Amino acid sequence: MIMYTFFEENADGLAGKTLIPFSTHAGSGLSGFDRKLSDACLNSTVGTGLAIAGTDAQNNPDSVRQNVNDWLSELGY
Ligand SMILES: Cc1cc2nc3c(=O)[nH]c(=O)nc-3n(C[C@H](O)[C@H](O)[C@H](O)COP(=O)(O)O)c2cc1C
Repeated sequence: MIMYTFFEENADGLAGKTLIPFSTHAGSGLSGFDRKLSDACLNSTVGTGLAIAGTDAQNNPDSVRQNVNDWLSELGY
């Protein structure tokens, strides 16, 4: 909720910017946050987000690093 509040209250300042969600999680993934971000920040561009399971980050760091690098490459970074 604190993140939703932040984006709702700062939507004007984020207008024209590109927002790309990233999160660790314990099973819920992005939980629809990308859609909620688009709804809250109507004048921002929301890029394809990525959610990484915390257990994967702990147990398979090399695999996760590759996933993150692939995701960033697809985004053009
Ligand atoms: C108060 C709180 C509630 C959380 N609730 C959930 C949840 O409902 N679903 C979920 O996937 N992750 C939830 N998380 C996040 C995961 O516990 C956490 O991000 C994940 O285990 C990775 O660990 P890290 O935050 O240390 O990277 C919650 C985290 C906190 C602090």
